[in-house]
Amino acid sequence: MTTIIRGGTIVNADRAFRGDVLCYGDSIVAVGENLEAPVNATVIDAGGQYVMPGGIDPHTHMQLPFMGTVSADDFFTGTAAGLAGGTTTIMDFVIPDPKQPLMEAWRAWRGWAKKSAGDYTFHVAVTWWDDSVHADMGTLVREHGVNSFKHFMAYKNAIMADDGTLVKSFRRSLELGAIPTVHAENGELVYQLQQELLQKGITGARAHPLSRPPEVEAEAANRAIAIANVLGTPVYIVHVSCAESLEAITRARAKGQRVYGEALAGHLVIDDSVYASADEDFARAHVMSPPFRSPRHQLALWQGLRGGNLHTTATDHCTFCAEQKAAGAGDFTRIPNGCGGVEERMAVVWDAGVNTGTLTPSEFVRVTSTNAAQIFNMYPRKGVIAVGADADIVVWDPHGTRTLSSRTQFAKGGFNVFEGRTVRGIPTHTVAAGKLVFERGDLRAQEGAGRHIDRPAFAPL
Ligand code: URP
Ligand code: ZN
Ligand code: ZN
Ligand code: ZN
Repeated sequence: MTTIIRGGTIVNADRAFRGDVLCYGDSIVAVGENLEAPVNATVIDAGGQYVMPGGIDPHTHMQLPFMGTVSADDFFTGTAAGLAGGTTTIMDFVIPDPKQPLMEAWRAWRGWAKKSAGDYTFHVAVTWWDDSVHADMGTLVREHGVNSFKHFMAYKNAIMADDGTLVKSFRRSLELGAIPTVHAENGELVYQLQQELLQKGITGARAHPLSRPPEVEAEAANRAIAIANVLGTPVYIVHVSCAESLEAITRARAKGQRVYGEALAGHLVIDDSVYASADEDFARAHVMSPPFRSPRHQLALWQGLRGGNLHTTATDHCTFCAEQKAAGAGDFTRIPNGCGGVEERMAVVWDAGVNTGTLTPSEFVRVTSTNAAQIFNMYPRKGVIAVGADADIVVWDPHGTRTLSSRTQFAKGGFNVFEGRTVRGIPTHTVAAGKLVFERGDLRAQEGAGRHIDRPAFAPL
């Protein structure tokens, strides 16, 4: 299986240059000008287009059992939607129930993920603590290619990790050469604010952001950063949505602390006016945590991405259809939290980032694949176009336009948070593990073609 991508501008995080890319099997075997290809090679003409590393979405939840239901995209439909949008690798989450053995949850998620059409790898959540968790973290790192652990500081009475668990798990992560990550929101504050709102009779989706103001997120971000500082661990903060959390990261980094931040495509371009809609279905469809914020926060997130204090863009892809969201009719605390985006992230970040001059094409590559590959130890297998890297490539037409809509998306859930947004800059071809899986609207995702990507532990500090 040989594919040659001819005549494009190859964009890596460090530079952009004219050249051809030759793929053989699942790898890139040559990069250079005027490459020869065997007669039977698939030829992709990339004239006038950019040729970039396939996107890595470091935060998705396919088929997630959550809040009494299961998210609508499974590992096949979710990864397939990603391929259609130029994303060739997802990082999903194994989330054990409190008291569930980590290895049991690990086996369940690995089973569900077998049908993935694109490559996948897992962060494992630490939702509780005892000696078995300590031991299983070791097994996961040493034997199963896990090098990141997730901690939910929110979702009290469910998957929330208390401070004791955070400290023990961060320490254990350091010992193993794994990186701790956090969903930063003060779960106790969220819970108390939710109860107050319900008591006042404010029960609709508009109450959701009122129960999770920026300060609630910033408190947890500061706490996680402080814990990491005391223990000497790095920390990665998922879905940073507000200026105050970004300030915490910026402060810590200025003092030399190794803190990383992730921005979601949704948080970058959608504001909190969606919760004021009189259409309760519409407002509910936007319920995710942290919630969408006011425009001043969006500006801060873009500045963070450009200035280097935010490192990755993700989606937190976790779709629920209207019927699922309706479980929270009359009680916003029961609306399954989550929104989509795995299919749209690359185009949304290009359109709102590169077309506006906020990001250069190389910076775009950095925040859509390279940084995630480096932070989570998949580089240079992923996140770069170079000899020896996986043949995960997106051919990008900077002039092509598309209007994003639930009517034309591949993802399930029947809703699109980017509905009606016209983007300029779209994938024309996606090559995943050397196979042309998407060509100008034609998706040829194959169930089970995706591979689990082992991520070795980091060398001891
Ligand atoms: O609302 C969200 N983000 N749902 C998915 C779970 C999480 O918090 O990441
Ligand atoms: Zn073609
Ligand atoms: Zn989260
Ligand atoms: Zn999430």
